[in-house]
Amino acid sequence: MSSVYRSRLTGKVNEETARFISSLEEDKRIFEEDIDGTEAHNIMLYEQDIIDKDDLGKILYALEKLRSEMREKKIEYNLEVEDIHEYIETYVIGEIGIKTGGKLHSGRSRNDQVTVDMRMYLRAKLIKVSELILNLLDTLLKIGEDHTETLMVLYTHTQQAQIGVFSHYLLAYADSIFRDIQRFQDCYDKINLNPLGAGPIGGSSLNLNRMRTTTLLGFNGVIENSIDAISSKDFELETACILAIHMSTLSRIAEDFIIWSSTEYGFLEIADEYSSVSSVMPQKKNPCTLELIRGKTGKVYGDLISLLTIIKGLPTGYNRDLQEMKTSLWDSLDVVSASLPILTGVISTVKVNKDRMKKVASESHAFAMDLAERLIESSSLSFREAHKLVGNLIKEIIIKDIKPKNITAKLLNELSIKVLEKNISVTDMMIQSTVDVESCLLQRKTLGSPIPKEVKRMIKNRKKLLDLHKNNIASRARKLEIANENLRNTVKKYLSL
Ligand code: ARG
Repeated sequence: MSSVYRSRLTGKVNEETARFISSLEEDKRIFEEDIDGTEAHNIMLYEQDIIDKDDLGKILYALEKLRSEMREKKIEYNLEVEDIHEYIETYVIGEIGIKTGGKLHSGRSRNDQVTVDMRMYLRAKLIKVSELILNLLDTLLKIGEDHTETLMVLYTHTQQAQIGVFSHYLLAYADSIFRDIQRFQDCYDKINLNPLGAGPIGGSSLNLNRMRTTTLLGFNGVIENSIDAISSKDFELETACILAIHMSTLSRIAEDFIIWSSTEYGFLEIADEYSSVSSVMPQKKNPCTLELIRGKTGKVYGDLISLLTIIKGLPTGYNRDLQEMKTSLWDSLDVVSASLPILTGVISTVKVNKDRMKKVASESHAFAMDLAERLIESSSLSFREAHKLVGNLIKEIIIKDIKPKNITAKLLNELSIKVLEKNISVTDMMIQSTVDVESCLLQRKTLGSPIPKEVKRMIKNRKKLLDLHKNNIASRARKLEIANENLRNTVKKYLSL
């Protein structure tokens, strides 16, 4: 195979340079997309009377032959071609001759060609990633259902903050991930537009029908302006950005689970299937899967920075720098696709140590804000007065080593006389019902708080939301399948004419 492009030049590139220029390796992922795009383009060329029936039949025959060889892994890649686009055109010319095969690239440039491939690849990939996210959401809601009353301490600054329940925690991440899946769908709609027909930058003087390739390839519309169509890579940046945002969420869950499965917390136990051991310390059970999710998140951020930096100073139009975007995107997609099932597996198999969680909550001072709020209601203290009083109470019980359950109305009232210089109206019962973690929680009233009633309502609501997303994603996947079936049938029809 020798280059079909290099007629303008006399000198040949040496192997080192060829390797440097080539994107063949990373292009292997868009092989079929390139064949599909080329088939759609040539069907359109025939229907527009730019090539004849015989030309189309031969071109489609050669492309289908190449597709089977590729699927059967019979391809030998050759570095004399720069990329998959040149490889495919060279192959077709080799099969059917330059007189006919040489027509395949009429009215097209590698610039609109590579973009169409990327858009087709990414939209399919986003569906796959979204399906993995749906599984994770399913798991969060399912495990959440079992823990609407599993009491735990909630943390801010990694310090004990308020009493909550484990389900509420899981739901918080479900909500964040619902936003991610929405972002993927919005991004999908921006990706799913056809750049073919934009040519190298200014369109073509052949009578191309951009709407026809749009339909044949299952796009939702065209990306209209030909400069925009080949220059703009914001769809790739947005994809990488959403992947990075999503990884940030997975990484934070991973971090919580790592800490909470330490002996010191003892809230969770990661299943053996997702744990590693030490080569030397026989007692160890390490959450390596979660640590790797956290670590790989760094790589995905790096990919995003690479992409933003590649684009930053580029003059308008296609520039070869853009070729470098593929590897970063592939890496981000691979990391997210590998991390999602692992995290889903860890969450669905985790052992929740309810007793330990409750014990830590019961011994904590996380009732303090609730107690201050009770005092506002019962003693007409201002919040700041109540805050001051409870702050002093906590100081006192720590110094005197008094357990929360042993706090009395007498103690609090004496403290009030000392700190606020007034009596307060408080009973032992009121204090007991606030320091007791269960009843403390039940007194919370706000929408979206961890009271079991609110948590159950949110689970019910999010299950419906999940069904909605499942339907949306399935319908996008179905549309792609139908488009692909149509293209296959159209190819078959023209092959048999
Ligand atoms: N291999 C190139 C890429 O990945 C294809 C486009 C080349 N276009 C060009 N004008 N040289 O971006």
